[in-house]
Amino acid sequence: MAKQDNEKNNDLPFWLKQSTNEAFNLNLAFTTGRDVKDIPMADSELFYADIYTNLAHAQMLFAQKIITKDEHNDLKVGLIESRKAFAAGTFKLNPKLEDVHMNIEQRLTKDLKIKAAEKLHTARSRNDQVATDMKIYLRQRLTDVTQSSINLTSLMIKLADREKDVIMPGFTHYQPAMYTSFGHLVGAWIEVELRNITRMINSLHLFNQCPLGAGAGYGTSWPIDPDLTAKLLGFTSSANNTLDAVSSRGEMEAQFSFDLAIASSHWSRIAQDLILYSHPYFSLINVSSEYVTGSSIMPQKINLDFAEIIRAKTALSHGNLQSILSIIKGLPSGYNRDLQQTKYIILDLFRELNDIPIILKNVLADLSVNRENCLARCKDSGMAAIEVTNFLSYKYNLGFRKSYLIVSQAIALNSDHSLNLKSLRQILKKQDLPISISDSEWEKAIDPKESLSRQKTLGSPNPKMLKLALENSNTKLDHLSKKLFSFKENYQSNLANLLK
Ligand code: ARG
Repeated sequence: MAKQDNEKNNDLPFWLKQSTNEAFNLNLAFTTGRDVKDIPMADSELFYADIYTNLAHAQMLFAQKIITKDEHNDLKVGLIESRKAFAAGTFKLNPKLEDVHMNIEQRLTKDLKIKAAEKLHTARSRNDQVATDMKIYLRQRLTDVTQSSINLTSLMIKLADREKDVIMPGFTHYQPAMYTSFGHLVGAWIEVELRNITRMINSLHLFNQCPLGAGAGYGTSWPIDPDLTAKLLGFTSSANNTLDAVSSRGEMEAQFSFDLAIASSHWSRIAQDLILYSHPYFSLINVSSEYVTGSSIMPQKINLDFAEIIRAKTALSHGNLQSILSIIKGLPSGYNRDLQQTKYIILDLFRELNDIPIILKNVLADLSVNRENCLARCKDSGMAAIEVTNFLSYKYNLGFRKSYLIVSQAIALNSDHSLNLKSLRQILKKQDLPISISDSEWEKAIDPKESLSRQKTLGSPNPKMLKLALENSNTKLDHLSKKLFSFKENYQSNLANLLK
């Protein structure tokens, strides 16, 4: 890893340079985290969702003749004005008014003096209101992470294709095992990403029913139209059971947390691979200096803090999932205030994890592979052993175990545990086997490139097979990307219409 020249800021350590580079600044914010960052009130994060919920509810009340056209108009104007004031920072949530729902109602009633505001809570409870807000809010958050994961995967496909011929060691038990390619490693990451994205899109669809209209959980005698509010808010349908609509709050939070927990477990594995492969003792890859951090005491240090933070945030995701599951497991049917706590957990989770796929994409976009070193490591780490074993079995029809034992004994002759043709010949002679291996046969057998090209199955590191596999991955990604796009387009255009 080459340290970037810090010409303009040479009074600061390199990792604190004052830069306008977006990726560098995101990494700085990601790694410093809450050391130097405030977090917003939970209900202020829900503010925009609550405005949409209110707008849809008011429109439905008018459509059902529960309020008049003028009343609807006044409410709409007031809600849109409140939205602008909130964005401008002139309307702030007052903690004495308990939550975002009461704050908005009070602003309409007291500050904006809208008479119809006293009718806005008709046929509604904060129980169905907050459940709806959470669905609107979390739908957007998960959509964003899914989109970033798609962007990350798209970049990975390009990277795997670029590096598909770059032979490097494959590891098992952290030890050199067999020849592979850097492209094949990235290909494995891609497969997990595709499952993560599929899982997230499935979850988005699974929870896309609108709770609004459930009231406190047992419906209302007002002549409401829950299908209309569901449609206005971009949901697939209204709830099929009002009690479930409010009691299942927490389930979606758990599902999304699970999606993030499993996705981040994978991101953590990538982070660990990056730490290991870029370690100076391995030196298989270089991570750009934009994403590494130094030490305040040891000037030579270059650390992959972003990867360490990813690992730790993954632990947080597992704990948060556990917390949500524990909160919901003991609740009786119906709204319980315990559910409020699930809001903080899931909000924290998205805030903490949101940037991981973006960070990884930035890092991988600037990653370079030490191709010569990757190949050199293949040659000095004894990974030829399995190739020679296979060769003996193919060519001389020896049972695999027999070949394995011959090669093991040849390795045992060398104190450094290496394998060479001389010791193999010695063992073959000792065992009286009528096998003579020529120099060229030996070279061919142990050659990493030849070895990969002998692999014939789709999914293997043979560059030709990897190319086909990547084409498959690309087709799948394209399909998922279109699916997410149409889901997002649908709900976002509905929400935008509410503001018109
Ligand atoms: N802040 C509450 C929550 O997040 C809003 C709903 C309050 N409802 C109630 N019946 N107290 O759950």
